[in-house]
Amino acid sequence: MSEDIQSSLKQAMRVYPQGVTVVTVQGPDGPRGLTVSSFTSVSLAPPLVLFCVAKNSSQHDFFSKADRYAINFLADDQKTISDRFAGRTKAKDRFEGVKHTRGVTGSPIISGVRAAIECRSWRAYDAGDHSIVVGEVVAASAFLPKRPLLYYSQLYTTTERGESPAPPSDIVW
Ligand SMILES: Cc1cc2nc3c(=O)[nH]c(=O)nc-3n(C[C@H](O)[C@H](O)[C@H](O)COP(=O)(O)O)c2cc1C
Repeated sequence: MSEDIQSSLKQAMRVYPQGVTVVTVQGPDGPRGLTVSSFTSVSLAPPLVLFCVAKNSSQHDFFSKADRYAINFLADDQKTISDRFAGRTKAKDRFEGVKHTRGVTGSPIISGVRAAIECRSWRAYDAGDHSIVVGEVVAASAFLPKRPLLYYSQLYTTTERGESPAPPSDIVW
């Protein structure tokens, strides 16, 4: 592929706003997380979602092969959480000092997130320099009426609209 297409694609993606999530897994040596904006829902029946993980990430195998995981939707007051799980701190130490609980799948739910959905592994697909990881949703919880954290034009931002109201109660499928 020509470098022209790669740089045009990068420029185009800069004007596409994306929500920021942290995918979390309870591993044998403790909780781990990875900042991910490539999250989207896929199917309602069955309930499927996906995220993409770069093959050159030191955590590629860990996250693409996880049996259970949570997708934590960050709020606009959680930029430091996003940076922490995308940053240079050693993967095993990134949860240090980060408050969290455990969801129904045992996956870490970061305190203060707008919402978290929990998945069990469905399938992973090879896709160029990334893997597409598809999960079956088993639960959703922890809705908070905050504004979302968005990544847009290489900067963090949020919506101008006020905080979206929390749904009447936690939803569990
Ligand atoms: C806002 C934002 C979104 C990101 N989205 C993704 C993503 O969707 N997939 C991915 O593999 N990495 C994504 N990253 C980068 C990873 O979080 C980062 O490369 C990773 O944590 C580095 O881990 P490593 O040094 O252990 O490889 C994103 C980073 C940021 C700041």
